[in-house]
Amino acid sequence: MATKGRQMYEGKAKKVFETDDPTLCIVSYKDDATAFNGLKKGTITGKGVINNRLTNHLMEKLEKEAGIPTHFVQELSDTDTLVRKVSIVPLEVIVRNTVAGSLAKRVGKPEGTVLPCPVLEFCYKDDELGDPMVNDYHILAMGWCSAGTLSQIKDYALRINDYLVSYFRQIGIDLIDFKLEFGITNDGKLVLADEISPDTCRFWDSRTHEKLDKDRFRRDLGNVEGAYREVLSRVFGDRT
Ligand code: TMP
Repeated sequence: MATKGRQMYEGKAKKVFETDDPTLCIVSYKDDATAFNGLKKGTITGKGVINNRLTNHLMEKLEKEAGIPTHFVQELSDTDTLVRKVSIVPLEVIVRNTVAGSLAKRVGKPEGTVLPCPVLEFCYKDDELGDPMVNDYHILAMGWCSAGTLSQIKDYALRINDYLVSYFRQIGIDLIDFKLEFGITNDGKLVLADEISPDTCRFWDSRTHEKLDKDRFRRDLGNVEGAYREVLSRVFGDRT
């Protein structure tokens, strides 16, 4: 089993450690939560364990059932996972099925308006700039990735959306929108990286429309831990 070496990086929700294999690293999920580019800080007890388990489960399914390459290698513990080391493409790739959050503000439509087709958005990953929204032309002109990689990212993002929408529909959850990150391995392969969790997705109960995601923290709606646990138990059923 890979052993945890030097800490390479600490992000807002995860730490990343070296291993004895230069092509692999260990991601360790934290209970820390931030919102509004780090302005709001808090702790969501049990979040690290839940996001680790959910992300790994969904990445395994995406690999096996939708043919999407991911960085996932092996779950090591409740909070730690072995992943392929990648160079992250500095883009937040957002897919939206229903109007919510910043899109509601930008286009002046009420949250909950179902979109006739998915909307794909890109933000440049830079905390100091506040992750500004950018388009294909910015991405290519700034050299954030190649045209080939960008087109592969779009294809993967829409396929991931198709898979996840129907997966969550079966467990009574509407996938409103979500954010993905991609990375490139040292042998040049584009893979899905980062996480897929209530931190990075909007999940609404299909029947009651109750929010089951980080918006409960962002908007002080209460029962944040309960919402994360509810998503975990719908995904794993009796196995939680
Ligand atoms: P937004 O409506 O605030 O732009 O968020 C769109 C989606 O992206 C939503 O599912 C939450 C997710 N997201 C992140 O994962 N990280 C972020 O920093 C932000 C702003 C949103």
